[in-house]
Amino acid sequence: MMTNKTWSGRFREPVSELVKQYTGSVDFDKRLAPWDIQGSLAHAQMLAEAGVLRAQDLADIQRGMAEILAEIEDGKMPWSLDLEDVHMNVERRLTDKIGDAGKRLHTGRSRNDQVATDIRLWLRDEISQINQLIGDLQSALVDLAETHADVVMPGFTHMQVAQPVSFGHHMLAYVEMFGRDFERMADCRKRVNRMPLGAAALAGTTYPIQRETTARLLQFEAICQNSLDAVSDRDFAIEFTAAASLLMIHLSRLSEELILWMSPRFAFIDIADRFCTGSSIMPQKKNPDVPELVRGKSGRVIGHLMGLITLMKSQPLAYNKDNQEDKEPLFDTVDTLIDTLRIYADMMRGITVKPDNMRAAVLQGFATATDLADYLVKKGLPFRDSHEAVALAVRHADSLNVDLSDLPLSVLQSFSALINEDVYEVLTPEGSLNARNHLGGTAPAQVRAQAARWRKILSADAE
Ligand code: ARG
Repeated sequence: MMTNKTWSGRFREPVSELVKQYTGSVDFDKRLAPWDIQGSLAHAQMLAEAGVLRAQDLADIQRGMAEILAEIEDGKMPWSLDLEDVHMNVERRLTDKIGDAGKRLHTGRSRNDQVATDIRLWLRDEISQINQLIGDLQSALVDLAETHADVVMPGFTHMQVAQPVSFGHHMLAYVEMFGRDFERMADCRKRVNRMPLGAAALAGTTYPIQRETTARLLQFEAICQNSLDAVSDRDFAIEFTAAASLLMIHLSRLSEELILWMSPRFAFIDIADRFCTGSSIMPQKKNPDVPELVRGKSGRVIGHLMGLITLMKSQPLAYNKDNQEDKEPLFDTVDTLIDTLRIYADMMRGITVKPDNMRAAVLQGFATATDLADYLVKKGLPFRDSHEAVALAVRHADSLNVDLSDLPLSVLQSFSALINEDVYEVLTPEGSLNARNHLGGTAPAQVRAQAARWRKILSADAE
């Protein structure tokens, strides 16, 4: 059987079965079919307006494509590896349905500009969805921040208790990170949303095409201005995967914290049972599988970034078959991101916060030592001297296994005569939080203000 009909006359023998399987992409790129058809319809309409295609041919193409779309939706479209990829499968099906008009569709076009267009059309839609999901995750975190603005937890540096922070403040740190991820996605989308169609194989075409018309029909923001560049570069895909990797890295950091916090050593939070699994051998176990898998899947997305960027490295202009390898990593990146964001927003809405345990951990770690040092500075002691006096007080409290706030006034005064009864206000975790009442600080009033600011941003984005 001749399997290379597309190139026909040039070949003396059919392509080998192994090569057909090796070079075929239909198994995975058929997912682009709806965008492939969208692109073809715009191309056909433009050709008709330019007088290259007859009105009847255009009408036939439109009718045929509508049928094919319905077949795809119903799972009735016959996909064939003999036809290599999604583009030739759709075109052949069209020709089977409408005859010669189907064969005229490919006028002034190549699969090279066609596939670059398809990926961009598909990816811009996916980015829009990803950004909606980022917004939804952010609002779950803002809800938590607002509800728990007054909850004190230890803030850590070097994983050692450092200073008290509001749990809401901690949640809002991630809202900021995801906010930048959203911006990166939106910015990347602008460069995805440019039209390669019209570049044809690499040099443009001899037909009187109107690229502005096609771009308008497809709602592209701009048109690729150089045909060689248009068919060959996949930098937009690399950029997207880089933004996706950063998003996954942020999610992996939050996941790591959730896993630690759920461990009985911390017992800061609980994750709802529906996001956890048990052990087949240890009856007591409740494992935070979802955050663990998110942490693991971040590696997979970074791997796709490495794959795509290496795919592009040293490729001479213009199109090379190497580029067919862009699809699977890109598809998997999008699927991983969308699944992860969906489950994450749900999971965050289902966590239980344990304020008593968080507060107890603050008290175990001398988290208000800096507040005591600041207190002495405000009474006139130079900061270095105050740092030393407090260090000695901490050593003493540590040897007695008590918190600074448990030391009687007379004992505290033995470290500095400047200490008075009012010191106990600054030694409490709540006093420590409230004292950091400035833009970006952890005071509950600031947390509430930031939560309100984000709520406004998120509701404007959602419109
Ligand atoms: N399946 C191909 C790809 O994904 C389509 C473009 C093929 N072009 C070519 N000249 N062989 O890149």
